[in-house]
Amino acid sequence: MKKEMMMTFAGMALAVSVVSATPETDLLARLPGIFKDSAEHYVQLDAAARKLAGVDKKGNPTFPHGYAPEKGEIDMRSILWWTSGHTPGTMWYLYEATGDARLKDAATHWTEMLAPNAKVTTNHDVGFIMYCSYGNARRILKTDKYDALLLETADSLSKRFNPTLGLIRSWGAIDEKKNFLVIPDNMMNLELLEWASKHGDRRFDKVACSHADVTMKHHFKADGGAYHVLNYDQRPEYLSVQEIRRGQGLGPETVWSRGQSWAIYGYSMMYRETGVKAYLDFAQKVADYAINHPNMPSDGVPCWDYGAPGQERDSSAASIMAAGLIEIAGFVGGPKGAMYRAYAVRQLTSLSSPEYFAKADEAGGFLLKHGVGSHPSKSEIDHSLNYGDYYYIEALLRLQATK
Ligand code: GLY
Repeated sequence: MKKEMMMTFAGMALAVSVVSATPETDLLARLPGIFKDSAEHYVQLDAAARKLAGVDKKGNPTFPHGYAPEKGEIDMRSILWWTSGHTPGTMWYLYEATGDARLKDAATHWTEMLAPNAKVTTNHDVGFIMYCSYGNARRILKTDKYDALLLETADSLSKRFNPTLGLIRSWGAIDEKKNFLVIPDNMMNLELLEWASKHGDRRFDKVACSHADVTMKHHFKADGGAYHVLNYDQRPEYLSVQEIRRGQGLGPETVWSRGQSWAIYGYSMMYRETGVKAYLDFAQKVADYAINHPNMPSDGVPCWDYGAPGQERDSSAASIMAAGLIEIAGFVGGPKGAMYRAYAVRQLTSLSSPEYFAKADEAGGFLLKHGVGSHPSKSEIDHSLNYGDYYYIEALLRLQATK
């Protein structure tokens, strides 16, 4: 912040311009160092993971998904797991941030093993997987060589769309009759469909908008808090929500913090891609829910569920939310936009502190500590999670690009 100050020098009054630090200017000044450290972490991670890489029980290659501090191990998963695009995605972002060719090689290596996902119709996650990896590759390398693969993926994902319900089925087999399970995480996969709509077939935009509209209608409480899993009755004579499940949250009626963050980011992204004002209004509503929640800790890093104050934090929920808030801030502008941006800066400053940002040898090369995968399943509690890193670096790049 620039201020005019009066100072006296040798008896003369002088007007001098001084730059006083704000949390945002402080963070922006640190970005080159954060990107450099992060790049070194991921070079180390790449080398370690290449030694660990193998195949899963079905013969699918494995990739580095996270770090389990209680075992002191990098957690390797099948390339069909929903997070396989986030590791190369972070490498692409770090290549973009630093120009370090080692990151480009690493990103290319981990991206190009994901191609089999283009044909997968058994989950909604192919949007995450392919757009975070190949999507960033095409954008950063300015190439169209991956377009056919991305369009094929969009086609596979849209096969999960049920036109009667107007929704993409998130979990479960494509033809399952009993359940039709939808989660707010699914909003994130609409970005691939929006890209495919502009580069291939407009029908993908209709699928994405329908899913966003029906989700907006049913998936949130009046105060903007998200349910995790909704089970829809898909019989045409009923077409209703038949069950609310807790999924990865504490209970069916509590709000799982990462699910809320997916909604914040997802509706902002849909506004960016479509210009539909209702999506931006809704993005603000779900963001306001999180920012104003009485159980949100003062550092802006939520506990794993808004109904579980004092329990483990989920750094990934904070980084996803920060990336969404920076974008919303730019769309909204004015004092409210400044409030969203300042909140994101608070979250990113917390995540960049030693409390959350791992030292090079602390988490196998991953950046953020204190993520929670699925608390109810006792899975990955207080771990490093590759998607937490992905949205953290993305948020910092967004901050830098809009300063
Ligand atoms: N989509 C899975 C998760 O957020 O854990």
